[in-house]
Amino acid sequence: MARSDLLLSIVRAGATGDRAALRSSVEAAVAEERSKNHHTLADRLQRALNAVAVTPPAASTSTAQTGKDTILETEPRQRLEDLILPLPVAQQVRQLIEEQHRADLLRAHGMQPRHRILLSGPPGNGKTSVAEGIAEALAVQFFTVRYDALVGSFLGETNTRLARLFDYARTVPCVLFFDEFDSIGKERGDSHETGEIKRVVSFLLMQIDQLPSYVVTVAATNHAELLDRAVWRRFQLRLALPKPTREALAAFLDRQFDTWPEPAGIEAKTLAGKLGSISFAEALEFCQTVRRQHILSLANRALKDILREQVELWATRVAPENTDATRSGKTSSSAEQSKGRSSTSVGRRRGTSKTV
Ligand SMILES: Nc1ncnc2c1ncn2[C@@H]1O[C@H](COP(=O)(O)OP(=O)(O)OP(=O)(O)O)[C@@H](O)[C@H]1O
Ligand SMILES: [Mg+2]
Repeated sequence: MARSDLLLSIVRAGATGDRAALRSSVEAAVAEERSKNHHTLADRLQRALNAVAVTPPAASTSTAQTGKDTILETEPRQRLEDLILPLPVAQQVRQLIEEQHRADLLRAHGMQPRHRILLSGPPGNGKTSVAEGIAEALAVQFFTVRYDALVGSFLGETNTRLARLFDYARTVPCVLFFDEFDSIGKERGDSHETGEIKRVVSFLLMQIDQLPSYVVTVAATNHAELLDRAVWRRFQLRLALPKPTREALAAFLDRQFDTWPEPAGIEAKTLAGKLGSISFAEALEFCQTVRRQHILSLANRALKDILREQVELWATRVAPENTDATRSGKTSSSAEQSKGRSSTSVGRRRGTSKTV
């Protein structure tokens, strides 16, 4: 491990009271110093380590533990290479990863790597996947904030929990993921709660500002237009993940076809045209349905026949745009839909319970 990384892990282990991590980091430092014939320093480090008590004091872990309750920790699996991203998005994500990987060089010049990203776009086009992919590329933990555990029933409690969450997050390099970020800070109908909510939001933004650059904060929203300027300002990278173009969808389908045991019997681009304007998640669901049906047929039916049948069924499915059009008597674009959406969280399709 590089000397700077070792120093960092020692400090972090000390700050969190993680004795096991502290011991292994210091032992690595001792070994490194010995390999350089710095025996006096190695001996002093060893003696300092021997003086560390075996059991940590209860108080030092309790804060971190409580912070842990408001975070879902997962091992990132999604790889960025497996995603089909608009060119500017792919380019900027690559830049961020390089800045993080070569942070030592930037810091030597008094600069920090970028570490605050806002992802926006309609459901199912890769917001969560990109956040996870960044964690995978950086080989760090993926922390998803759990709003349900964060929101306290008593005034003031939410800020205390938020403070603990951030205390915990800053103990390790990680990606800290805030999903449905627009649900935070949206004022509720109850006017007496408004002041309290404003305090929570400004506290949250302040905490995000103060995070060290080895914590990569990723916020995702389906409704970027609902975020206020104070929120936008925080994010150094603002990336749009729109629905795929026909070409992007065809590229995605091509990759799916490659994993199939039989030819699809149709050009990916033609299929993309037949599926229409859909998200990557829907395209994936379509492809998986074809595969499921093929598996269940025990290879008695050709995959291309099953695919043709599924395309016909696909045309009959109920889509959100259809139901909106039926209600309003016309076909509305998604931009019109979002403009017409109520400014309170009541009646929103998702995340109504997550408003802080
Ligand atoms: N750009 C993409 N390229 C390839 N596959 C994608 C892409 N976007 C989404 N997918 C597929 O769709 C699945 C769902 O996507 P994801 O959960 O990242 O969407 P999301 O934007 O976070 O949606 P939501 O707003 O509903 O949270 C992913 O697991 C992945 O398999
Ligand atoms: Mg998501």
